[in-house]
Amino acid sequence: MTHDVIIVGSGAAGLSAAITLARTHKVLVLAKGELTGGSTAWAQGGIAAVLDAGDTFENHIDDTMVAGAGLNRRETVEFVVENAPAAIERLENMGVPFNKEAEVLHLTREGGHSHRRIVHVDDATGWAVQEALQNTAAAHPNITLRPHMVAIDLIVDRNAEKPTGAKNVWGVYALNNETGHVETLTSRATIMASGGAGRTYLFSTAPRGATGDGIAMAWRAGARVSNMEMMQFHPTCLYNLEVKNFLITEAVRGEGGHLKLPDDAGDEAGERYMHRFDPERMELAPRDIVARANDHEIKRLGLDYVDLDISHRDPEFVKGHFPNIYDKLIGLGIDMTKGPIPVVPAQHYTCGGILIDLAGRTDLPGLYAAGEASESGLHGANRLASNSLLECFVFGDAAARDIAEHWDDLPAPPAIRQWDESRVTDSDEEVVIKQTWTEIRRFMWNYVGIVRTTKRLERAQHRIDLLRGEVEEYYGNFRVTQDLIELRNLIEVADLIVKSALARKESRGLHYITDYPDLLPEAVDTVLVP
Ligand code: FAD
Ligand code: SIN
Repeated sequence: MTHDVIIVGSGAAGLSAAITLARTHKVLVLAKGELTGGSTAWAQGGIAAVLDAGDTFENHIDDTMVAGAGLNRRETVEFVVENAPAAIERLENMGVPFNKEAEVLHLTREGGHSHRRIVHVDDATGWAVQEALQNTAAAHPNITLRPHMVAIDLIVDRNAEKPTGAKNVWGVYALNNETGHVETLTSRATIMASGGAGRTYLFSTAPRGATGDGIAMAWRAGARVSNMEMMQFHPTCLYNLEVKNFLITEAVRGEGGHLKLPDDAGDEAGERYMHRFDPERMELAPRDIVARANDHEIKRLGLDYVDLDISHRDPEFVKGHFPNIYDKLIGLGIDMTKGPIPVVPAQHYTCGGILIDLAGRTDLPGLYAAGEASESGLHGANRLASNSLLECFVFGDAAARDIAEHWDDLPAPPAIRQWDESRVTDSDEEVVIKQTWTEIRRFMWNYVGIVRTTKRLERAQHRIDLLRGEVEEYYGNFRVTQDLIELRNLIEVADLIVKSALARKESRGLHYITDYPDLLPEAVDTVLVP
């Protein structure tokens, strides 16, 4: 079936692009599971934008570059920061009920921000944004939303030869999870808005579907990816044996929460420790510093977790600012107005991704990318809190505009070969997929985590090389399922992360490697070429 534009992903990036494009073109939006299944719906803290008279674009740009340890591309940072107020206005017009005080948007504070500049909807901003974007998209006659469609691979021009490498992209093959069959979906332009790769790690705040599918698909098709070693770990994920990936927003520290050592820390129990890691900014230091501090204290004292304590603030203030977190914790027997919350670091955000320019263009004609699947140059070596939803709105819109503007240059797809299911059978060993999936996530956590060594990275590379052969063999012989598609992508992305980490011979931002503890004089992107 042919469409004007196919967008893989129904989160903030995909739906923003769809809504802009729908003014002029017919758009098909695919989602792997439910439309709400991406990270967008889970976002808590909010969206960064300069909206206060005492703040300036320059401040936001500086904060972003400081957090990104100079690896950011300045023109991208300027582009995003300057387009932030307009993005917030678009969301307000779509009905996002941002918190206000006396008719003025309430701005909260998060780590790394020198000013209050985070607009939010209580502590569940993502859900409100997802709902507004989804309602707007669903109401538009030019947008078709198709949940339960798992994109497998991009459809590329097989005749294109290197060195031009300019393979045209003409849509995707996608598994229809309701019929069990693979559909061939063609288009003149395709936008990869498929989110991050958090689930490459054992512990992650990201939802189950964050398996880096779009990054792997674009790489296989021939697009470059960059800075994949820059994996962000959030310092404060709830430590709970039943609930594994519940985030405690950075805004809790922004509104005065302290990090302390828990009861089983012996003589040091109850002590704050951030002064030892960042005496000036303390709990509001950028995330990489706070996550490493938490990891360090947990390992130093053999703890299961550290404490995040905001119980010194007025209980009504706490409940008013964090109603969803409060309710969730009460359900687990934790009262954050009376005592600390046990927290651990967990993978949170994929800073690297498909390399794009300011219009969301990738290396491949017809292929665009936006949001967490992409690497635009905004985040550099570490993403500043609440800059990622913003990036989705700005780049979703930018990609859509570029497609509309250059429509006549995008060739119509030729006749495309259908997916061949004739030579594969159903797998009778699903356990292999589960086992391999767990193995990858575990060694990525242990060997490619917050603090790295060359030796551990090489171990991870060795495991990947072994498992890759097994997964490819499995993929070649059995009918595709969502689990198998995700596993194949997971191993591809794990490989990209490890190769990028091995290539960076310095410690910068999120990439901390004990063999190279210093910063090199020049900040250089790690760009992998297929
Ligand atoms: P997502 O919202 O993740 O959407 C990805 C989409 O792609 C989904 O629809 C999915 O189904 C689809 N997809 C994936 N693979 C396939 C496939 N193979 N076939 C078809 N469809 C596919 N950022 C902030 O700026 N502020 C915050 O407060 C904040 N809080 C966060 C809290 C949590 C718990 C988490 C996990 C992240 C948070 N982030 C926050 C980060 C932010 O939410 C994400 O970076 C952002 O939402 C990513 O949006 P996206 O559109 O790129 O992808
Ligand atoms: C949070 O609320 O702490 C997450 C904010 C973000 O990831 O930007």
